[in-house]
Amino acid sequence: MIGIFDSGIGGVTVFKEILRELPNYSYLYYSDSKNNPYGDKTKEELEKITENIVNYLINAGCKIIVIACNTASAICKDYLRSKFDVPIIAIEPAYKMVYDTNFSGKTLVLATKGTLESEKFQELYHKYDNHNTILYECVGLADLIEQNKMQEIDLYLKKHLSSFKGVENVVLGCTHYPLIKKQIREVLGDVFFYDGSFGVVRQLKRVISEVSLKEEKASITFFDSSSLPYKATRFWEILEQ
Ligand code: DGL
Repeated sequence: MIGIFDSGIGGVTVFKEILRELPNYSYLYYSDSKNNPYGDKTKEELEKITENIVNYLINAGCKIIVIACNTASAICKDYLRSKFDVPIIAIEPAYKMVYDTNFSGKTLVLATKGTLESEKFQELYHKYDNHNTILYECVGLADLIEQNKMQEIDLYLKKHLSSFKGVENVVLGCTHYPLIKKQIREVLGDVFFYDGSFGVVRQLKRVISEVSLKEEKASITFFDSSSLPYKATRFWEILEQ
């Protein structure tokens, strides 16, 4: 079984890509909405939270873990890899994809405060810097998406993103953001989006073959830490869209 986690339903955007390419495995998705948002938590808080989740997933039988959260990946991946023997795949903002595909284009990177301030992201940014990039901390946005507050999301985007009209590339550096691509385009126009899910799928395929994980009876189990019934409904809705 493969375990996937995020601070809520954002990671489903990654999970959908995984399922498209690797449908014949068993998956356990852990939505940690009790601790959402992760974006403004300290390193120590996040390490404790994510260590408990990985423990839970391993005890449930997971042989590979996918961190489908940019914030947790950027801040905790080294810590988690030092604590556990199972392979841990970590998403990262797809800034390198801009470098590979549209290097000179004006670029906007949207992510949480935790991700943008992390050492991991700063390394990535300086390595692939196109000197035409704006980094923008979307404080509170993942939380609004988690709660599905559509009107507030529209107002938030108008207020915070309107001044960036004219950018060509938008890096969605939080796994919640692909859920509002349409609304972002309503403010920024016809931009190119980049997100880290393709990188995760590529790594997962490699790790599956390295650990010789056999194809299994396909199954999906959903767990939410706050036990709110609408979380499961939303999970299946997003997965089926
Ligand atoms: N989905 C998350 C990410 O990719 C976490 C957002 C949050 O909980 O603040 O960063």
